[in-house]
Amino acid sequence: MRVVPSRLYYAAGSRGTQAGLSLGAKIHNAAYQLCGVAVSGGEPEKTARAVRLANEGAAILGAAARVSPADIVTDQNYIGPGYAIPTPGCLEAIHLLARHEGIFLDPVYTAKVMAGLIDHIRRGDIDPGETVVFLHTGGTPALFAYAGQLGLPR
Ligand SMILES: Cc1ncc(COP(=O)(O)O)c(C=O)c1O
Repeated sequence: MRVVPSRLYYAAGSRGTQAGLSLGAKIHNAAYQLCGVAVSGGEPEKTARAVRLANEGAAILGAAARVSPADIVTDQNYIGPGYAIPTPGCLEAIHLLARHEGIFLDPVYTAKVMAGLIDHIRRGDIDPGETVVFLHTGGTPALFAYAGQLGLPR
């Protein structure tokens, strides 16, 4: 698409995704900043796990690149009361994306990431000229389990 993203937002749960993205970014000297948004607690063990998985992956691939804890950025501010418990920002993100983009986020992972991205935009952390990639990792069927909290007919 000939765009140069400056940031990539993604959900950080048990951290396999984080490990793969971090290793891939290292191997390819990615110009974008990886912005993980945590959907559950468990630091610092979770970062240690991501580093271990990434470096095990590097060994399997025969890649010289190595990931260190300093490479891992995970914003912990959008977890809310806990894993799979929707926050007001998460519910807002689901409605906003559905109404304006026709994109369905899930309340457990992707909507918490989008809540973080929206908040980062609102507080001016991201320049309007930047290209931001949002990695939609799925989870849409979970929407049906949260119909009541989303104000949808069951
Ligand atoms: C929809 C969705 N997005 C993101 C994740 C997070 O991935 P990871 O556990 O690799 O951090 C999961 C994990 O189950 C998921 O189901």
